[in-house]
Amino acid sequence: MRIVQAQDASLTPQEVLLSINSIHLYRSSTSHQLENLPLLLEQMHQHLSSRPLQIFYQGRTITILPQILGQGTRGIVYPVLGENLGVKIPKPDWISMFRLREEGERAIQVENMARENSLDTPQNLHFDRLGLFAVKERVSGPTLTEVFLSMGVVVRVMQPDGDWHFALGSHETMRSPHVASLLWQMARLIQVRRNNRDLLGDLGPNNFLVSSGRIFYVDIGRSFEGTLVRYDAVQNIDDYLKSVLSDLEKYKQRGLLPSLPDLHPTNRFLCKDVLLSAG
Ligand SMILES: Nc1ncnc2c1ncn2[C@@H]1O[C@H](COP(=O)(O)OP(=O)(O)O)[C@@H](O)[C@H]1O
Ligand SMILES: [Mg+2]
Repeated sequence: MRIVQAQDASLTPQEVLLSINSIHLYRSSTSHQLENLPLLLEQMHQHLSSRPLQIFYQGRTITILPQILGQGTRGIVYPVLGENLGVKIPKPDWISMFRLREEGERAIQVENMARENSLDTPQNLHFDRLGLFAVKERVSGPTLTEVFLSMGVVVRVMQPDGDWHFALGSHETMRSPHVASLLWQMARLIQVRRNNRDLLGDLGPNNFLVSSGRIFYVDIGRSFEGTLVRYDAVQNIDDYLKSVLSDLEKYKQRGLLPSLPDLHPTNRFLCKDVLLSAG
């Protein structure tokens, strides 16, 4: 990838410029070889592992900070200096770039659906035309996965061979007011999903953040047959929690779980009243 020095500062509001200090990684008005875009994404993530990255778009510059707010199969979300924003940058491959462009194409429809059904979803502020980045309102709070794990809705069960899997927590936990409120909100989402299967596809717990006790739907990307069908079978909250267990096993395989404290053998009593096994 050719690195362009920042000599000409005459930027128009239509332009997009990605830079590190005054070194330009990408400028939309200069010719770029499209086949190099995944390499550019790789450079962006690499720089963001230790240094801020500036993005100029729509006539303004934002500084993306080298911290990860969260990551999924297709993208990594970073915070922005001094603003309540999150920037999603796709993983460095074509499919992830196309998925982000698709997110941009459906964002307005999803926001309308959320408004009509009183669901919380962050505002989508900008999608790059090529799918290099998206700027969204930032939701501050843990993922539903982290909340479920920290509250004991799902627990890690150690196997005799030292491996572990997930199971549901105790009846008592499920009835606590905070958990009951989250499960009630998910039950509503399941209901809304019946008429909005395409816009509300993947109910995986990493696609929701919890802030002030409210569940925010953050990943508006299209979902695919496996996930769509899996959540179609969900009729009630018990079914939903079974799907959550299988999603957690999937996240475990893909390295998408928060770091979990080791489940010491003396903590196994935690699982004594486990309701359901993940197998
Ligand atoms: N608006 C946001 N504010 C804060 N964190 C976010 C936001 N959107 C996503 N995240 C975090 O980034 C993670 C990955 O985002 P997501 O859109 O689900 O990516 P993917 O398409 O790869 O699944 C989420 O699980 C969440 O932790
Ligand atoms: Mg996701």
